[in-house]
Amino acid sequence: MEIYREFHLGQFRFTRDDYFAHIFFPTQAGRPMEHKMDIDAFLRPLQRDVAWGFFYGMVKFDDIFGTINHYGTVEVFGGKYHKALRENGLWHAEELDRDEVERVFVEMLEDWVPADFDPFAAPRETGSAIGPKRQGNPAAIHRKRVVTTRMIKQEERQDPDYPINAGFAGMQFIYGEMHIKPGHEHKFGLVNLYEYLARSDVTWNPSIVSVVEHSLFCPTTEEHKLPVKHGNDRVEWFIQLNGQIDWEICDQRTGELRAFVRMRPGDVCAMPADIQHQGFAPERSMLLVWENADPDMPQKIRSGAIPGDPDKMVTMK
Ligand SMILES: [Fe+2]
Repeated sequence: MEIYREFHLGQFRFTRDDYFAHIFFPTQAGRPMEHKMDIDAFLRPLQRDVAWGFFYGMVKFDDIFGTINHYGTVEVFGGKYHKALRENGLWHAEELDRDEVERVFVEMLEDWVPADFDPFAAPRETGSAIGPKRQGNPAAIHRKRVVTTRMIKQEERQDPDYPINAGFAGMQFIYGEMHIKPGHEHKFGLVNLYEYLARSDVTWNPSIVSVVEHSLFCPTTEEHKLPVKHGNDRVEWFIQLNGQIDWEICDQRTGELRAFVRMRPGDVCAMPADIQHQGFAPERSMLLVWENADPDMPQKIRSGAIPGDPDKMVTMK
């Protein structure tokens, strides 16, 4: 009988069985640790960490294990940003080459994600990863972002046709009006962002729809809970477009609870750079995430040149 493979990354060791991912690591205190996560709850963040290229800042798979993007290298940690484990020396972290972390994580996905489980889908849309080793799901794991080569509505543009998600069935998409000088009609097009998002086939996976210098608009559809606790290394803005998302906001270094935020349509929220957040969406919702992609931003915040607190930002005065 085929069994799940074991993986090594630095001094971390990963195994899985029918129900759990097991993460083994040495600790400062000298006592080795074994940490367990439900397998579905481990594979969902693992998939996103790979797909997001380790994202901005910290991706906590849960309170214990995760990664920090240093843009070239990746810190892989166990227990380091958990108050009790940190204080008792029961933690370990290694800064590893980005490509090495990615290679091991991808191999883990290829071996551990079964054909009947899609880590990007909402729980109601997919089966479970629980159970013995079986055929994998390469199509879901290696899903490529759709990258456009033509401007929206420009001739020759091929738009992939995704169906409206059941969570948005019946939603009215009212297009705006355009009045264009004759002869220029082909240069302009109308897009309905709600319709675009209603056709999204993944959850908690932002797509970049506009880029102006470092300003990225990254709308996304959300359902169930964000599979990671995201500790950004810069201020991150949220604009709730539809539905409702509750956010649990904790200190990034210790995991201690700081606030709950409930966002309803039209609500705008700015997350400080020193927190982690996890969102909960009882039904499929639409969220516009606004990121500043300035590669020097973490350093600017560390040096104090730019505040990591949104209420101290110049733009707020
Ligand atoms: Fe975030």
